[in-house]
Amino acid sequence: MTTTARLSPTDLFAQVMRYENRPDPYPYYALMRERPVVRMDNGTWLVSGYHEIAQLLHDPRISADRLNPQAPKPPQRSLLVQDPPRHDRLRRLVTQEFVPRITGMRDHIAELVDQLLDAHTSSGPGQLDVVADLAYPLPVTVICELLGVPREDEPVFGSLSRRLTLALDPVDSPTEEQIRDAQQARDQLLEYLEALIQRRRAEPGDDLLSALMSSGDDEGPMGPVDLRVTLVLLLIAGHETTVNLIANGTLALLRDPGVLARLRTDPDLATPLVEEVLRYDPPVQMSGRSALADIDIAGTTIPKGSRIRIMLAAGNRDHRRFPDPDRFVPDRRDNTHLGFGGGIHYCVGATLARAEAQLALTALARRLEAPRLVADPPPYRENATLRGPEHLPVAFDRLTNG
Ligand code: HEM
Repeated sequence: MTTTARLSPTDLFAQVMRYENRPDPYPYYALMRERPVVRMDNGTWLVSGYHEIAQLLHDPRISADRLNPQAPKPPQRSLLVQDPPRHDRLRRLVTQEFVPRITGMRDHIAELVDQLLDAHTSSGPGQLDVVADLAYPLPVTVICELLGVPREDEPVFGSLSRRLTLALDPVDSPTEEQIRDAQQARDQLLEYLEALIQRRRAEPGDDLLSALMSSGDDEGPMGPVDLRVTLVLLLIAGHETTVNLIANGTLALLRDPGVLARLRTDPDLATPLVEEVLRYDPPVQMSGRSALADIDIAGTTIPKGSRIRIMLAAGNRDHRRFPDPDRFVPDRRDNTHLGFGGGIHYCVGATLARAEAQLALTALARRLEAPRLVADPPPYRENATLRGPEHLPVAFDRLTNG
């Protein structure tokens, strides 16, 4: 870390956004928390304390509208950026079909994990890129199967999803090219999904897409625009988040061989351990909101109409909430972290992401002999909001059979 004495809130946020600091933004978050609710020069409010974040996430005077001039206009917005009552209806329509499909999936996910690792089984020393070989293909395969999106189309929608995600990072003044690229990626993804919707309409399947088209509530099924943007949201969430949970978890394990050894002998440790990864090194580092009214908080007032940055990853390391917050404690108790957000927008995919990460990390601990990081820190992806390694090369003495 460079000299940090008296960096302004604006500078601290800029440091978090700098690519050079992607491997370890946490010292900057610690400095931010000295003033847990503070205004930056561009007028956006930065909220970095655990209690303040939790308070705002549960406050009905907060809107999920990020006031981003580049964002699509209301009818094209996903539930992630909508407020009640529209948010609640859309969320209900998704969860009523999504949640029952997740339950009972653990065995299948475990099989997929083993298949992916089987491709690299080796009786001697070898190397694995945990991102490319496991952390990425696992959630992508699962979300494709769930939604009914052909896995072989991955080269198309995988890169579109990535380009769209880059546009999620808060930038004060994006370049023309950035705006155009994000819009193009979004249009192409919507077009791709529209063609798929037409196919499913003609020939419904047993998948979530077909179910979302036909089922509904008193008001009927989801409208065509909502259906498309919901699919984009689920596809992106399936592509760009769990990958980082598995990769960040692997990093934590390999940086602390004692924890790795414990997981190997006690697979049940995976449950609290994954929660600790979600606290200690969360895949979604921040989110955005706006104020629908003047909001008194932490001795200050966020004025109505303000844009707000919610620094989830900073809140997760707040010593006012978690003892010894900078230590990775795999069996930490009372771990109500902010990794999946909170309040009405709490992550819909939490159960699925947890299962995938628990099974992937347990399998790595069980099957890899003497794994070690080839590069520490590994190379990181550009994105600061959905943050994680681009590659995670791991050397091992042996990779045993599943
Ligand atoms: C480790 C993986 C994941 C993490 C860390 C994560 C994190 C989050 C967070 C922090 C939010 C709240 C954002 C906010 O309040 O602004 C959220 C919302 C959401 N997530 Fe996830 N997510 C993950 C995986 C998934 C998966 C696999 C899916 C589904 C396929 C999913 C679907 C959603 C949806 C639909 C929302 C919006 C909910 C709403 O607005 O009511 N997520 N997620």
